[in-house]
Amino acid sequence: MAAASGNGIDVHQAPVVGPALGCGMDIAVTQSATEETDAADAAADIPEYLRQVYWWAYIHPRGVRLFDRRWVTNLILWGNFVRLRDAAVAALGLPIAGRTLQVACVYGDFTQALLRAMAPGAWLDVVDVVPAQLGNLAQKLPADAAATLRRRDAADLGFASGSFDQVVLFFLLHEQPASVRARSVAEAWRVLRPGGRLVVMDYHCPAWWHPLRHLLAPVLRRLEPFALDLWGRELAAWLPPDTAPTHCAARGFFGGLYQLLVVTR
Ligand SMILES: C[S@@+](CC[C@H](N)C(=O)[O-])C[C@H]1O[C@@H](n2cnc3c(N)ncnc32)[C@H](O)[C@@H]1O
Repeated sequence: MAAASGNGIDVHQAPVVGPALGCGMDIAVTQSATEETDAADAAADIPEYLRQVYWWAYIHPRGVRLFDRRWVTNLILWGNFVRLRDAAVAALGLPIAGRTLQVACVYGDFTQALLRAMAPGAWLDVVDVVPAQLGNLAQKLPADAAATLRRRDAADLGFASGSFDQVVLFFLLHEQPASVRARSVAEAWRVLRPGGRLVVMDYHCPAWWHPLRHLLAPVLRRLEPFALDLWGRELAAWLPPDTAPTHCAARGFFGGLYQLLVVTR
C-alpha cells in the first residue's frame, strides 16, 4: 500500500524485516528525489506543525542534507551534542538490554551511539513520522544493525502497551505543540513495561544568570515556536496526570538550558 508518493520519495508499506535479517524497515524508502522534488507532496500525511514550522529542517530533501552534519547539530546545541547524547544513552542503563524504542530520528549519530551501547541480543526500534528522516537514518546504519525503522507518529505509536524495556525521546518534545507533546509522552509511557525506563532529553529554562537566556528566547520564538513551553514547566510535568512512577530524576545541563529526565515506570 502506498503511504506517500509522487514526490520522488517512494514509500511503501512492507513487512517488518525480523531480527534474523538485521536492520529492518517496515517501509521501503527509495530516494529517487530530484532537486525539483515537490516538497509539498512529500509532506502528505505528516502532522501539520511539522509541515508548517519544520518543513525546511526535516521534510525537504535539501534540509535533510544540510542539517545532518555533526558540526551543525553541535552548533544548534551550543557545542553540547556529544555530552547530551552520551548522557541520554547512559541513562538507559549500560549496556542497554532488551527492547528499546527511540521516538523520532535525530541528526548526527544518536542512533549509532544507542546501537554501540546495546548488549548482545538487544533490539532497537526507531520511529519517525517523516519518511525522508527514516530514509536518511537507514543509509547511515550498517545493514546488520540490530534495529527496525518504522514510520509512526509519536502521538499514536501503534505498539502494544508494555512492549518496551526502554523508551527514549531526544529533543522531540520542544518541537511539538502542547497537545501533541502530551499525547507523545502518554504514548511513550503506555508502551513502556512496568519497571521500564523513560529517558527524555530536551530544552529547559536556563538559570537566571545564563548569558543565552535573553538571547535565545527570541530565536526560539521565531524558529521553534513551541520550544519555550519547556521553559515554563519541568519536563516531568508532561507525564500523564495519572502516572505513578517508581522513580523520577531530573538533571540539568549547560546552565539548565537542557534537562535529562529519567523515569522508571
Ligand atoms: C527528534 S527531533 C530531533 C531534533 C534534533 N535537533 C536533531 O538533531 O535532529 C526531530 C525529528 O522528530 C520527528 N518528529 C517530529 N514530530 C514527530 C511525531 N509526531 N512523530 C514522529 N516523529 C516526529 C521529525 O520528523 C524529525 O525527524
